[in-house]
Amino acid sequence: MKTGLETLILPAGDAAAGAAARTLAAGGLVAFPTETVYGLGADAANATAIAHLYAAKGRPAFNPLIAHVADIAAAQAIGRFDARALKLAQAFWPGPLTLVVPKTDGCPVADLATAGLDTVAIRIPAHPVAQAILRAFGGAVVAPSANISGHVSPTLAAHVESDLAGRIDLIIDGGPVAVGVESTIVGCFDAPILLRPGGLSRERIEAVLGAALERPPAEAEGDDSQPLAPGMLASHYAPRANVRLNAREVAPGEALLAFGPSRLPGLDAAAAVMNLSPAGDLDEAAANLFGYLRTLDAKSPRTIAVMTIPEEELGEAINDRLRRAAVAR
Ligand code: TXA
Ligand code: MG
Repeated sequence: MKTGLETLILPAGDAAAGAAARTLAAGGLVAFPTETVYGLGADAANATAIAHLYAAKGRPAFNPLIAHVADIAAAQAIGRFDARALKLAQAFWPGPLTLVVPKTDGCPVADLATAGLDTVAIRIPAHPVAQAILRAFGGAVVAPSANISGHVSPTLAAHVESDLAGRIDLIIDGGPVAVGVESTIVGCFDAPILLRPGGLSRERIEAVLGAALERPPAEAEGDDSQPLAPGMLASHYAPRANVRLNAREVAPGEALLAFGPSRLPGLDAAAAVMNLSPAGDLDEAAANLFGYLRTLDAKSPRTIAVMTIPEEELGEAINDRLRRAAVAR
């Protein structure tokens, strides 16, 4: 692994985009903001750079990466889009949606990044800093979330720094992200499948498709040996504290992650309280989720108790991440 690197941190801007593009072209690793979470980018065509990326994150190499591109023409050079995939791309790109499609012949994305699959995950991010870097670089950039594998995804440059300083070349600081949970992943197979709930709600995708999205077969979920979206390991997004879901009261010493009105029994004895959205707004809750988990975890409570979040709109992604955080380790 490339440890002991001097990690440069630059504020977003024209100079930073140029520096990012040069670092990527030289095979380096660059963290940058997208609208969902901060990503850790490498040149998608450079297998050595991608090997360094897996090592820097401590990520298993069987877990493939998302290729980020600037526009639909660049996406079509990498993946084959049928009519339905193109419809989703045109409706939601740039934005928090990733499409898994068959690779093109001569797809430039290194096999290491796709874990040897004949499909590739593609996304056009909407964040202006990500767009500027992709345009300055000119090629596809593979980018997982910019955290140590298994940690909570970063929504601030400071989160990236605390996980990856000394292991990567450059961090572009573009301030807090807007969405706060990772992109929604749809597999464009015979029937479109929701591989990962995320920052674009199922409801909005189904409205464009005019049909329900399937979920992966039940046995694929929670079974880490045969993952369908290979990164969806059961225990992931893990704070150090235990996570207890659907809390209706707070036990002494527990921290509370609240949602909506939070007058729970035991509140006064809580170690700490943060409210994802006092008004009960799911978009606001998603934007706050990972940062609040990090902040509560830093107070070292035995357990973080989490109030019930409705399973609709972005609540589906929030609950998905919370269930993974709650898996006993
Ligand atoms: O919002 C996001 O998607 C962020 C930002 C940086 O773009 N990226 C992100 O990447 O969340 P990562 O690596 O943390 O998650 C990518 C997910 C993994 O679960 C991986 O298994 C899945 O995408 N994936 C990648 N290629 C795939 C493929 N060909 N088939 C199925 N799943 C795939
Ligand atoms: Mg991740």
